[in-house]
Amino acid sequence: MLTILVINSKGGSGKTTLTTNLASYYATRKIRIAIMDYDPQGSSIHWLRVRPDELEKIHGANAAPAKGAVPLRSTHAWVPADTEVTIIDAPAGAKGLLLQDLVRKSNFIVIPVAPSPIDIHATADFIKELFLFGGARNSKAKIAVVANRVRNSSSSVYESLQRFLNSLKLPFLTSIHDSENYLYASEKGIGVFEMDKSATIAERQELMPILKWLNGQFPDKFGTRLEDDASSLNETRSFAMGTQNFTVLSATGKFKSYP
Ligand SMILES: Nc1ncnc2c1ncn2[C@@H]1O[C@H](COP(=O)(O)OP(=O)(O)OP(=O)(O)O)[C@@H](O)[C@H]1O
Ligand SMILES: [Mg+2]
Repeated sequence: MLTILVINSKGGSGKTTLTTNLASYYATRKIRIAIMDYDPQGSSIHWLRVRPDELEKIHGANAAPAKGAVPLRSTHAWVPADTEVTIIDAPAGAKGLLLQDLVRKSNFIVIPVAPSPIDIHATADFIKELFLFGGARNSKAKIAVVANRVRNSSSSVYESLQRFLNSLKLPFLTSIHDSENYLYASEKGIGVFEMDKSATIAERQELMPILKWLNGQFPDKFGTRLEDDASSLNETRSFAMGTQNFTVLSATGKFKSYP
């Protein structure tokens, strides 16, 4: 099983939005997917609750500490044994032992960051914490940052963060723009990959570099890599994650094989 941690200690940066959209993408690919929601607000669990029954199932594990308890360590939430990808939706403010536990569990760490100077400053501090105290320096987890809620005017505010990331050799994968479609999807329990394609082309294209990065970490020997063209999502493809090979939906929408 591969584990993707979506985290930023800064609240409201887009952790849940990214978690739910990545999860729904993998679900459309018939990958057995689970979300572990570590946030006591339970936003991902809520999203799963309103998710339409006819869509691909996503397992939800409520990993938040009991009400009133201090979140010192990660809890042992349960996901089905045959889960292939688990996405962890981290709470705002994760630090200390909880942060170390989450990092230890993860193969990939994705950090969304909103474009305000305050968010960018807080994120730089968080990344320092991740390396100095979170165990990221000694972990095998691959780390990347994505800009979220970007408006046209906001790209220049990322320049200082970009320099900081360059100095750490961390990739800045993509800019996700501020879009009503994410709000609509979060309300309906779906992801942008499950919405009308023609209305979500920009969103799909923006998310694709994250999916490419996740899948591209593995050598091609297991099969073709995930396509980078959001408009060819209906084609049958195989791609590899870890030692697993996946075959995805054909153009007819019929699932072909699951090695
Ligand atoms: N790209 C986007 N376009 C439009 N709205 C967005 C986008 N990303 C996030 N939002 C909205 O911004 C709000 C905060 O996003 P989200 O809940 O994903 O952040 P979070 O990091 O999980 O927050 P918290 O730290 O409270 O858990 C939500 O209402 C979400 O729907
Ligand atoms: Mg959240």
